[in-house]
Amino acid sequence: MIAGNGNGTHRPTAREPHPAGPGNLDRDARDRASNGYERALAAANGSPGHIRPGDDFRTRAAHAGDDTAASVRPLTAPIYQGSVYAFDDPDDFAAAHGADPPRPTYSRAGLPNTSQLERAVADLEGGEDAVATASGMAAISTTFLALLGAGDHVVASSDCYSDTAALLGEGLGRFGVEASFVNTCDPEAMTRALTPRTRLVWVETISNPAMKLCDLAALATRAHRGGALLCVDNTFATPALCRPLEHGADLVIHSATKFLGGHHDLTAGVVVGRAELAARLRRCAYLFGPTLGAMDAWLALRGIRTLAPRMAWTSETALTVARFLDGHPMVAAVRYPGLPGGWQDDLARTLLPDGGGGMLAFDVAGGREAADRLLREVRLIPFAPSLGGTSTTAAYPPHDWGGPSGSDGATIRLSIGLEAARDLITDLDQGLAAVARAANPAGVSA
Ligand SMILES: Cc1ncc(COP(=O)(O)O)c(C=O)c1O
Repeated sequence: MIAGNGNGTHRPTAREPHPAGPGNLDRDARDRASNGYERALAAANGSPGHIRPGDDFRTRAAHAGDDTAASVRPLTAPIYQGSVYAFDDPDDFAAAHGADPPRPTYSRAGLPNTSQLERAVADLEGGEDAVATASGMAAISTTFLALLGAGDHVVASSDCYSDTAALLGEGLGRFGVEASFVNTCDPEAMTRALTPRTRLVWVETISNPAMKLCDLAALATRAHRGGALLCVDNTFATPALCRPLEHGADLVIHSATKFLGGHHDLTAGVVVGRAELAARLRRCAYLFGPTLGAMDAWLALRGIRTLAPRMAWTSETALTVARFLDGHPMVAAVRYPGLPGGWQDDLARTLLPDGGGGMLAFDVAGGREAADRLLREVRLIPFAPSLGGTSTTAAYPPHDWGGPSGSDGATIRLSIGLEAARDLITDLDQGLAAVARAANPAGVSA
């Protein structure tokens, strides 16, 4: 028996409401709460509690301190690093395991920190439930594994993230799932690709790396008419800028490694949707095991606490940088959602009314060599193959991303961080000046 202390003194258990809520307790209640803490400390020191003074050193080494945390209420949830949870009664375990969503029993079935992250992302996306996974790709593969079987068909955006495309092609192809890649900016092209076997339509709110938008409402209507679900990878926009469920999508997928986490220090994924779909994904994640650890879940939630100001700030900076690049003679093309005069202006206003996010892509005039030179010249913008953190980073899209002809491998994808726009522009300006000098050593001004 773990919870009873054997001497009739009551000790709070995990199931009871917590006694110590700061701010809303009267003095007596505060005293009682602090007495609870004293008792727990005493228990940790080997007096009342399930450890008794006479217990062997080895027993005390296995249990001493067990109860200390039970009667404190940190303002920020702690990291529950444990992989397994204890029950006084086997029936309590069965009830916790069978609950929907399950209460913590064992890490692969869910942990307090992952549940907290799931509730937060479901809330922000406006979904009923969410499932957290060990990476964005784990969120994507769990969605596919839960909802597709041999003989099924997926219609995916021809611009979707290269590893999503690879998973659909080389990964799921082996299991008899077929995928067609179409220009989902054209809802009619998407409709033509639907077959009676199509189960999912897969798009990104802002595509990586082409920065294209799709009319999500039009795609949702057409996908549903064809008997398919619309899944939207919302990694670039985040719910701070776009909530695809409000436009008719069925599932929203995130690489929380990027803007949700926001600090380049974790790897995680989340899928949000109706409770019935989430339950199927949760079961699949439980069986296939792409479990998210407590530490990364905790970090992701900490990142989400500053998501709104980060996305507002980074959108403003990215637009300023995009405008600068757009007017620069050493830049052949700029792709940023909502760049005034851009071909998707109207869609950007509907989908992203509060800003276009932190991602932009541009082609350096002069080809790959010129782009390489720029990346070596800039002082504040390291080359780093990820995105969505506090510092600005640059990367090349994969070779086969199908960029516009004439880009000559010179497309650079920028993930704008929290630096001042002025400093980023000064840095890019001096880098582009070096590119211009190299292209024109005779010194004719570019
Ligand atoms: C749009 C998008 N979705 C999903 C992923 C995969 O995320 P992760 O690297 O966390 O597995 C990425 C990674 O870059 C991405 O850019």
